[in-house]
Amino acid sequence: MSSPDDLSFFLHGGDYNPDQWLDRPDILEADLKMMKKAHVNCVSLGIFAWSALEKQDGEYDFGWLGDIVDRLYENGIYTDLATPSGARPAWMAEKYPTVLRTDEQGRRRLFGERHNHCLTSPDYRRKVREMDMKLSERFGSHPGVIMWHIGNEFSGDCFCPLCAAAFRQWLKNKYGTVEDLNRRWWTSFWSQRYSSFDEIDPPSPRGEMSNPSMRLDWRRFSTDQCASFIRNEKEAIRTHCPDKPVTVNMMWSFWDYDYSVLAKEVDLISWDCYPRLRAGNYLTEMAEACMNHDYMRSLKGRPFLLMESSPSKVNWHSVNQLKRPGMQLTTSLLSVFCGSDSVMYFQWRKGRGGSEAFHGAVVGHDGRDDTRVFRDVVLTGEALERISALKKQPMEKPKALIVLDQQSRWASSFVQTGLRDHMDPVEAVRDHYRALFKMGIRADVRDSDADLTDYSLVVLPETFMFRDGFAQRLREYVNGGGKLLVTCFTGIVDGDDLCHLGGTPHGLTDVLGVRDPDLDALYPGEENSMVFPDGRAFPIREICEYPEEVTAGECLAVYGRDFYGGTPAFTENAFGKGLAWYLAGRTDEKGLDAVYARVAAKADLKRSLDEPLPEGVVAVRRGDMALVCNLGGEKRELELSVPRTDLLSCHTSKTFALKSGACLVLDVSAEKEGTGEEEKCTR
Ligand code: GLA
Ligand code: ZN
Repeated sequence: MSSPDDLSFFLHGGDYNPDQWLDRPDILEADLKMMKKAHVNCVSLGIFAWSALEKQDGEYDFGWLGDIVDRLYENGIYTDLATPSGARPAWMAEKYPTVLRTDEQGRRRLFGERHNHCLTSPDYRRKVREMDMKLSERFGSHPGVIMWHIGNEFSGDCFCPLCAAAFRQWLKNKYGTVEDLNRRWWTSFWSQRYSSFDEIDPPSPRGEMSNPSMRLDWRRFSTDQCASFIRNEKEAIRTHCPDKPVTVNMMWSFWDYDYSVLAKEVDLISWDCYPRLRAGNYLTEMAEACMNHDYMRSLKGRPFLLMESSPSKVNWHSVNQLKRPGMQLTTSLLSVFCGSDSVMYFQWRKGRGGSEAFHGAVVGHDGRDDTRVFRDVVLTGEALERISALKKQPMEKPKALIVLDQQSRWASSFVQTGLRDHMDPVEAVRDHYRALFKMGIRADVRDSDADLTDYSLVVLPETFMFRDGFAQRLREYVNGGGKLLVTCFTGIVDGDDLCHLGGTPHGLTDVLGVRDPDLDALYPGEENSMVFPDGRAFPIREICEYPEEVTAGECLAVYGRDFYGGTPAFTENAFGKGLAWYLAGRTDEKGLDAVYARVAAKADLKRSLDEPLPEGVVAVRRGDMALVCNLGGEKRELELSVPRTDLLSCHTSKTFALKSGACLVLDVSAEKEGTGEEEKCTR
């Protein structure tokens, strides 16, 4: 056994920090018993354990970890073994100060907190390599260890002299000559021209912060430094463990690095999902969570792992609500149906102290296994066992692609136009995703390097940057029969963040029948509207465009007011064998529903469950099962056209009542409605 992929069941467990309880063998003993009761089969171990693994420079102690890995394995629990690079011991900061990060003002941090090492420091890379090689030597062939968890939630930049020098070298490698850099950074503006790479500093509020091309390169550089940091760890792990997969746990709509680059360094994608849940109104937040799940799945086009989630509340949102009844199971299964092969928690047991003592955990300070949260976790473990057949079933590739391009996100946030804030397209991506999600249409979410050929719908929500070749691939895609939806603020700059000349959206003016839209911005509270011929009107807010010229085949809706009232706000154009839509402004949920009613019908997209769903109820299909959940605030009746079996309750019916936050898993195997369930329901 060497990988979660080989297992016939979903992983269930979470972060386990026994190093906080080494003086309480009774508690460690109780953990094992309760883990079995909770259907836990895997834990992530040692994530922040460096000070317990190397108490002083070179004094390693792996004995306690070895005991725990052994005992877990004897009890049928696998280990996802972490390298401890997410936080360092104090002695290391004292002895090797370059391990500490330097901020953009040039101030080196004092020891403390976590996730804040210098990405370049040769001392840190060496200490990490030594630690990882020793861990690999000791645990690499342990049958209980099924994967490696490198560091924790990599994030941020370092602005120390070592990182600045590495940035200059990175620029030299990329541009070759400083003249080329000057041209592509447009440095003739404000007399920024450099005569040597040595003159360049990282972006800083004390220096240059406005040049968007430079800031974009700094983000790419930081991503590459993080990638090489991960590579350094992976190589060390590989010295004694050639085959077990490595992962890094990623984060929600993460800003600092381009995950499509980091994805290449790891074998498995995993991420930590902490939606901001608000009782009775889950749809938008869970649509965003699922958009992130699908983004993670799309990074490698295969299942990912949900590495962390809270079985209850978290402690770092501005408001930290308890999970309402049903929501632990529903949020967990949504991740699985979007492509996760695990449900893992942060964390197994609440610590007594530290800043996370009040963060949700499977076991609380009372140490009991008869609590509401513990029962919810047991229920989740049982449900995962009941649907484990999905683990080995192929996942159907979605026919819709929504583009979320990290480099384009960075560029649209660095640009000075329209609104000062709120130019990050992530909310637009979420809103477009939600429109499809509500219809039960599965989507890939990934960057503009995606191969477009197999999709029947491609959506570009505010995709500001078109790198080389993208416009041409989009043209070929539509020409060959593809359907394309383009919104405002799309196709404006190239990969260097230089404006495309000769008409925007770049390369698509004839595909869309729209030329040179000029971006308008509305004050908070101000609205325009998108009016359909039948009189339905939906608000336009924040940003919208006034196209210089529209030659599109059909105008589907017009602006309602202002000097561009009556001009097209939503158009459709036939190009080659395909169709292209242009949506000129940000609208609300109902406005997007109206847009997608048209788009989805023409794009020939399959729904997860071909049944009418009440408001707030969504369906997500994986393999031959469909998860149906009520993300609205009211109880809903699901009325099916044929009897189907809920594989969680083994109940077969044409009608099901779903409380707010509740879910069921319908058997939709080969659409043989109402047959074959008996064998699957073996309660
Ligand atoms: C992150 C970290 C964990 C923990 C949780 C709390 O995801 O990886 O160590 O801090 O947040 O929600
Ligand atoms: Zn540094």
